[in-house]
Amino acid sequence: MKFFIDTAGLAEIREAAGYGFLDGVTTNPSLLAREKVRDADRHIRAICALTPGPVSAEVLATDTEGMAEEGRRLAKLAPNVVVKLPLTMPGLAACRILRAEGIAVNATLVFSAMQALLAAKSGAAYVSPFVGRLDEIGTDGMGLVEEILAIYKNYSFKTEVIVASVRHPRHVLRAALAGAHVCTMPFAVISKLAAHPLTDKGLATFLTDWGKNA
Ligand code: E4P
Repeated sequence: MKFFIDTAGLAEIREAAGYGFLDGVTTNPSLLAREKVRDADRHIRAICALTPGPVSAEVLATDTEGMAEEGRRLAKLAPNVVVKLPLTMPGLAACRILRAEGIAVNATLVFSAMQALLAAKSGAAYVSPFVGRLDEIGTDGMGLVEEILAIYKNYSFKTEVIVASVRHPRHVLRAALAGAHVCTMPFAVISKLAAHPLTDKGLATFLTDWGKNA
């Protein structure tokens, strides 16, 4: 499973990339706003320079022509830009247009398996089901990921599933068990993946025991 970081924070991306297992980055307008970014294009270029993997950059237009135009502009920022389009009917039409021009699309804000099926039929390179937001309204986010993977397998779609809106390491575990292609995580979740109290306790004991021996 590929690990993406879900942030627009350059320091977080740099640190995560330093651990050696970062495969890509996803951003969205809220994440860019959180970093108080004024020049979004410049910021996306800076992110792209930090990782050779795909970097999702989202359009702000909501009509098909506007999304296609913005997508073309974003795709020119760097060779690893993936254009993020909302899963709406105009977004699906824009996806088909960009796909025909060889531009990779990440269909975002996906909350149902039918939306994911439409994204695949429209040629999206990635689809992003938001598991955390679904869990928060009392539905089963990871159940949706399993449905999407089963449907894609039935019809041999090449669209990769990015498990998004991840809230904790168990989402990452469930994503890997389900066979999701990618999991995109906030830095806070990435930092928790290697943590275990018994590892800390064991390490402290080893160091103390060796210290007593000295
Ligand atoms: C995915 O690409 C999105 O940026 C992201 O996972 C949104 O999740 P949120 O629910 O934490 O805003």
